[in-house]
Amino acid sequence: MGSLLQIENLHVSVEGKSILKGVQLEIRQGEIHALMGPNGSGKSTLAYALVGHPKYEVTAGKIEVDGVNLLDLDPNERARLGLFLAFQYPVVIPGVKVADFLRHAVSNIRKPDRKEGEGLIPMREFRKELRERMEALGMDTEFARRYLNEGFSGGEKKRMEILQMAMLKPKFAILDETDSGLDSDAVRVVSEGLQKLAGPDTGVLIITHHERLLEFNKPHHTHVMLGGRIVESGDSALAHKLHEEGYAEIRARHPQAAAENAAHEEALTATTAS
Ligand SMILES: Nc1ncnc2c1ncn2[C@@H]1O[C@H](COP(=O)(O)OP(=O)(O)OP(=O)(O)O)[C@@H](O)[C@H]1O
Ligand SMILES: [Mg+2]
Repeated sequence: MGSLLQIENLHVSVEGKSILKGVQLEIRQGEIHALMGPNGSGKSTLAYALVGHPKYEVTAGKIEVDGVNLLDLDPNERARLGLFLAFQYPVVIPGVKVADFLRHAVSNIRKPDRKEGEGLIPMREFRKELRERMEALGMDTEFARRYLNEGFSGGEKKRMEILQMAMLKPKFAILDETDSGLDSDAVRVVSEGLQKLAGPDTGVLIITHHERLLEFNKPHHTHVMLGGRIVESGDSALAHKLHEEGYAEIRARHPQAAAENAAHEEALTATTAS
């Protein structure tokens, strides 16, 4: 049996506002889970809480990998346990090349005792591995020489995400893919990349509505989030149905969660309008 990521009764607040209200979810290595749900339901909040973003305060519940409590660990330590988050909006780090960034990230995970600024994995070994992974993914090796995120297209940001995942080989990968801002190149990169990287050693949580991502990476489980809870779960047919029909039925079946979600949606509309 592979590793297990266990989320139990998770409550999370952001700036004192309660967002997640008792999330239950178990992901095993080798499983693909899709997380869907309307805007403001808490999907990204769950992703950030999992990797330990300081703004997301866990007020109750637990997150464990094989019984090890993640809540006491900082984001780096969580990464060492095999957790990986592909960010919805990747940050720009000025002056850092893709290869440098990846060498640091890989060293962090494989050499946990190294001090900052020393003990990186040897350059030759790293270069060889990077080249092999890029070739396996069908990526142009020139990409490794680019400055990180500087002028990256949507598709290139996704290439970076997938390459990071290929190098770090996480036990659990969380991909938060908004539908807006994913052009067809970007969708193809993620969808093909995931197909190549997902396997018995990786548990995947894909946050998306994008049919194409799910079509080529059929989720074993689909979960619907509403008002900060997972209100329904099913298989890949549920993902398809939600894509076709939207959330009206789900809201009707869970009026309390729907009302709480509506409050967040109003807040979101108010911020985007101002
Ligand atoms: N950093 C933050 N600061 C303030 N409020 C936040 C923050 N992050 C999330 N929230 C609030 O938490 C609620 C849930 O947001 P979240 O981003 O998790 O939703 P989502 O399901 O990912 O939505 P979307 O489908 O639009 O990506 C919203 O009301 C949002 O305003
Ligand atoms: Mg989101």
